[in-house]
Amino acid sequence: MKKISLTGIQATGDIHMGNYFGAIKPSIELSKEYNARYFIADYHSLNTMKDPKELSASIREVAACWLASGLDPERVIFYRQSSIPEVFELSTMLMAFTAKGLMNRAHAYKAAIQANNEKGEDTDSGINMGLFTYPILMAADILLFDSDVVPVGKDQTQHIEMTQDIAQAVNANYGQPILKIPQGAISDEVGIIPGLDGRKMSKSYGNSIRLFAPEKELRKHIMRIVTNSQGVEEPKDPDSSLIFTLYKLFASPEEQAELAGRYRAGGMGWGEAKEALFQAANRELSPMRERYNALMADPDGLDKILAQGAEKARPIASATVKRFRRAAGIDR
Ligand code: ADP
Ligand code: TRP
Repeated sequence: MKKISLTGIQATGDIHMGNYFGAIKPSIELSKEYNARYFIADYHSLNTMKDPKELSASIREVAACWLASGLDPERVIFYRQSSIPEVFELSTMLMAFTAKGLMNRAHAYKAAIQANNEKGEDTDSGINMGLFTYPILMAADILLFDSDVVPVGKDQTQHIEMTQDIAQAVNANYGQPILKIPQGAISDEVGIIPGLDGRKMSKSYGNSIRLFAPEKELRKHIMRIVTNSQGVEEPKDPDSSLIFTLYKLFASPEEQAELAGRYRAGGMGWGEAKEALFQAANRELSPMRERYNALMADPDGLDKILAQGAEKARPIASATVKRFRRAAGIDR
């Protein structure tokens, strides 16, 4: 039997190039070999997004991004977390097997506490229980669907380890493999995609390039990339250039070698290097952007695709919950 790959993306704003190369593209590649189950983690988003208009727009945008990037809803079970009530049932059951101390050690929670302490505010200020129990809900997302591999960025490693710990606690208690232990598929190859200022591209740093920005906006973003003061005639090192790092994501090996030669030879200014990046990015993104715009223009169509995915997902989810309830003595 084919192995199962599962991943989720929160709906918390614009999808950027880092999300695409770090998460969406590798997951879609994986879906060609695995039975894939991909979803929009909209209840996770609720922890931070309290504006209903923004959340509902973001859910559709993320769905359209996946589909425009090549996710085939005929082969991938593609759904919204919020359409699967079993996620929340399993999440409650997992709480009974999760040490509070484990949650205390979660990076995101610790970072929030540290930020409060540094500001001299109350330790728990602004921290809701959704943030505190975030890893449990994520474990439920994963364990519900018998996932073998979970393609995620490096920042999610701890969440995968916690999922393994929680599942092992359940299996050990009942002396049987109720829950499958998943493995992370952490994409080292792509690594961290840098943003306009050279730090990790992230919506929280305001340094990201929106994946399906209109052509004009894409060019404007690229022209904003920070460069050093080297003049046009000076030879430049492609390997330490942010512009070239981004160019590599879009260009063929031959194109990369050719442009690297021009960097090293001198006579090419940063403006020209940025133009080459824009051309390569726009070439790959244009057809996807068209699909994205068409999908966004048909919200009912999007909702239908997601509802069909949920219909396929629910029987799998319900089998896992049943298995657990029986083992727990809740059902006979
Ligand atoms: P952000 O940092 O913009 O808030 P998220 O945390 O919502 O992004 O990330 C969603 C997915 O995209 C995760 O799997 C994450 O690892 C991946 N990702 C986000 N930013 C990058 C980046 N700069 N490079 C590679 N992958 C990234
Ligand atoms: N925590 C993930 C992120 O921020 C999103 C997510 C929620 C997820 N549930 C998941 C990822 C289950 C993989 C599997 O990127």
